Amino acid sequence: MATANPTQARSGAVAQAPAVEVSPVSRREFLYYIWGASIALMLGQVGVVIVWFALPRFREGEFGGVFTFPVSDLPAPGDAPVNVPAGRFHVSASPEGGLVALYGVCTHLGCLPKWEAVNVRFACPCHGSQFLVDGRYITGPAPRGLDRFPLTVVLADGSSRTNGTDGFPIDISDISADDIVEIRVDTGGRVNGPAHGAPYASSVG
Ligand code: FES
Repeated sequence: MATANPTQARSGAVAQAPAVEVSPVSRREFLYYIWGASIALMLGQVGVVIVWFALPRFREGEFGGVFTFPVSDLPAPGDAPVNVPAGRFHVSASPEGGLVALYGVCTHLGCLPKWEAVNVRFACPCHGSQFLVDGRYITGPAPRGLDRFPLTVVLADGSSRTNGTDGFPIDISDISADDIVEIRVDTGGRVNGPAHGAPYASSVG
C-alpha cells in the first residue's frame, strides 16, 4: 500500500500550478489593433494599385500596345502605304523621305479611309475627306489630317530616330533600309493629325 508524501501530509494539500493572469484587452489597445489593421489594409490596396499601373496594359502586337513593323515591308518613298489591320494603322513613306504611322480612322466621324493608288491619296468613303500619303488634310469635312502613332526606327549602329509626340514624319532619306534593324509603332500614344494647311515637317531624334 502506498504511503503519503510526507510534505503533502504536512501541508495537507497538493501543490497547485501558479495561476496565469489574463488581463483583458483595454479599449485603447483594441482601438490600436483596429487602427493597425486598417493601415495594413490600406497599404495593401495602394500596393495593388501601384502594381496595376506598373504592368503594361496592352501586350505587344495588340492594339493599344507596341507593334514591330517588318523592315522588309517598308514602303519606298511615295509608294502605297502598308496597312497593318491588327494595329489599325498604315506605315506611310512620303516622297520627301519621311516615315510616319497613320491611324487608319478618319478624323471626321470615324470611317476608314482607303488608299487610292490612282489618285495617290487616302479617301474616306463616308463623306469624302481626302488625305495625302503623309496624312495631311486635302479636302472634305475632316477637322484635321489623319492622326498618327509614335514611330521609332532603330538603326544598326544602336541609335534610333523617333517622332515621339509631335507625330511628324521621321526623316529617313539619308539612311538605307539595310541600316534599319527594327521599326516600332506605339498604338497607345495617338497624336492628333496636323491642322488644315499644315506644312510638311519632319523631326529627327
Ligand atoms: S467620316 Fe470620313 S469624311 Fe466623314
